[in-house]
Amino acid sequence: MKTVFIAGVSSGIGRGLAEEHLRRGDTVYAVGQHEAKALTSHPRFHFMSIDLYDADMMRDTLRTFVVGQQFNRVVLSAAVYPDMRNMIDTTLDTLRYVMNANVWAHKHIIDAILSHTQTEQIVALSASPILFNHPGMGAYAISKAALNTLIELYAKEFPYVHFSAIAPELIQTPTFSAFLQEGNSERYPIIQRIRDSLILPLNQGIPKLLDAFEKAKRIKSGSFVEMKKLARPDL
Ligand SMILES: NC(=O)c1ccc[n+]([C@@H]2O[C@H](COP(=O)([O-])OP(=O)(O)OC[C@H]3O[C@@H](n4cnc5c(N)ncnc54)[C@H](OP(=O)(O)O)[C@@H]3O)[C@@H](O)[C@H]2O)c1
Repeated sequence: MKTVFIAGVSSGIGRGLAEEHLRRGDTVYAVGQHEAKALTSHPRFHFMSIDLYDADMMRDTLRTFVVGQQFNRVVLSAAVYPDMRNMIDTTLDTLRYVMNANVWAHKHIIDAILSHTQTEQIVALSASPILFNHPGMGAYAISKAALNTLIELYAKEFPYVHFSAIAPELIQTPTFSAFLQEGNSERYPIIQRIRDSLILPLNQGIPKLLDAFEKAKRIKSGSFVEMKKLARPDL
């Protein structure tokens, strides 16, 4: 049985991972802004509410939640999807807001995990190149590129923990669906390309993602890799 820590568990992929781990008999420590109400009464589910924007809370409260734990895996799933905008229309405030949630909050979590727990593997959910570097994806793309670099740097500093930044296949979650629905596909053609792509239902995506997390341990620590590459039989 595993003990895992998941950041961002009220909805989407993080919640799906928590449910699947509990179903498999594992213990889940989870943080997020809102509680995943259906899970809170589960005896192997431990939840602490945190706000990714509250650095003091992240540092101090998180320590008391995780101190002394041994985690087989830590999954950093929490993120915000900003509205699509060209770079010239993206304010520094928006960039700071997105970077705080998608990158710097994860640095606080990683620091607490490395300082106060024994952890085998840390996985950050990144994004595939189909979501990267297209007009409109500005703040989100920059945040995920920075997250990949953050993971690579920690891997070099902590060789006894396995780090990876994994781009999930497209998975149907409430936030991702809303993002696609609201996106202006005439102005931003990438929206139509994603809509036309294969988007896995959550119940198919989660087991595949868990397989990818296991296989990721065979690649070089600190790597950025797409989930679909990890599904190759030769890995
Ligand atoms: N779905 C996809 O196809 C896809 C594709 C590429 C990459 N990803 C990546 O996979 C991860 C999960 O995506 P998802 O689609 O499952 O998104 P999601 O459903 O929106 O989940 C994101 C999580 O982040 C948490 N969060 C957001 N703001 C927070 C805050 N201020 N404080 C604490 N928690 C906060 C949310 O909790 P609250 O609701 O409590 O705020 C939620 O549990 C993200 O990193 C995303 O970039 C997903």
